[in-house]
Amino acid sequence: MKIYKTLRTAIVGCGLIGKKRARWVQEDPRTALDSVVDLNRANADALAAEFQVKAETDWKQAVKNPDIDIVIVSTPNHLLCPIASAALKAGKHVLIEKPMGRSLAEAKIMAKASKSAGKKLKVGFNHRYHPALLEAHDIIENGEIGKIINLRAIYGHGGRMGYEKEWRGNPKLSGGGELTDQGVHLINLMEWFCGEPKQVSCFLQTAHWNIKPSEDNGFAILRFKGGVLGSFHSSWTQWKNAFAFEVFGDKGFISINGLGGSYGAETLTIGTRKAPGQVPEMSSKTFEGEDLSWKREWDDFVSSIENPKRRMMGGAEESVSVMKVLDALYRSNRSGKTIILN
Ligand SMILES: NC(=O)c1ccc[n+]([C@@H]2O[C@H](COP(=O)([O-])OP(=O)(O)OC[C@H]3O[C@@H](n4cnc5c(N)ncnc54)[C@H](O)[C@@H]3O)[C@@H](O)[C@H]2O)c1
Repeated sequence: MKIYKTLRTAIVGCGLIGKKRARWVQEDPRTALDSVVDLNRANADALAAEFQVKAETDWKQAVKNPDIDIVIVSTPNHLLCPIASAALKAGKHVLIEKPMGRSLAEAKIMAKASKSAGKKLKVGFNHRYHPALLEAHDIIENGEIGKIINLRAIYGHGGRMGYEKEWRGNPKLSGGGELTDQGVHLINLMEWFCGEPKQVSCFLQTAHWNIKPSEDNGFAILRFKGGVLGSFHSSWTQWKNAFAFEVFGDKGFISINGLGGSYGAETLTIGTRKAPGQVPEMSSKTFEGEDLSWKREWDDFVSSIENPKRRMMGGAEESVSVMKVLDALYRSNRSGKTIILN
């Protein structure tokens, strides 16, 4: 039996997502939390106290630390590229949160840094690890709903008091508004089912939040190989949190609603037609319990560090593709034209 060493991990950014990550690092027997880093000393201290690890404030020192094998970057988006690039250069494996930086250019810089260093880079597109989506993917791969015709998705929430003053409302820190924030998950999911789109179109709105030039709503249409169409709406004016993802095939459909928690119970519905024109037979299931997508995502990452040939979701190439589509959607909105991708 091969014995692996414990991979010592530092988390940079101890906000909402950094806190979520810490638990799964500690619970995985192959990894151990070494230290947590936040510019805001109180945030670092609070997380360090919970997990009995070191608290630091300077990410530059942390990424150079020879004891560290993995760096998780869960800061606002403007720091993802500089911290990930420095960590890769220092020989660490890196997990950054989505999006893959503020732009396609930043995404390419990180992908290149990973390749040059020969170290893993994963982007936290955790939605692929939700049970309803994993099962939907298997059902579709098994041909149960036939050939995919089109896809449709909604993702959104309504912000909160002062949302426009947070880093997400400042394009210098975020790279973009809601299309960049939640829209990227939908691009990543659609690409999982249909590959990279060939053509995209997009309209953006800044309808409610005082965040111009960023958008609070994005409407996108994507045209995939073989003429398959996908559309999505990502919204910061979806006053009640919502997630819906539907895939229509020539023999049936799949519909996913909710992601647990404030997004409502995660349910998967499959409808299949025995013959053309017939009313579909429907079955639904609900996935109860806590959101284990973060655990599965960590497991996938660590397994691929241990077995470099193993295929990992959220890898550099897959994630650059998401940023390429995101970039094309913004260009479409600016130009009023459909953008052709090559
Ligand atoms: N996968 C998902 O569904 C999901 C959900 C939410 C956020 N995210 C992503 O996670 C990342 C973090 O989002 P969040 O909601 O946790 O943000 P947050 O504002 O809650 O936390 C960010 C933390 O980074 C810290 N920070 C800022 N500058 C720093 C610096 N120079 N050095 C060290 N720490 C610094 C802040 O003090 C804060 O504690 C973003 O990239 C976001 O897009 C992903």
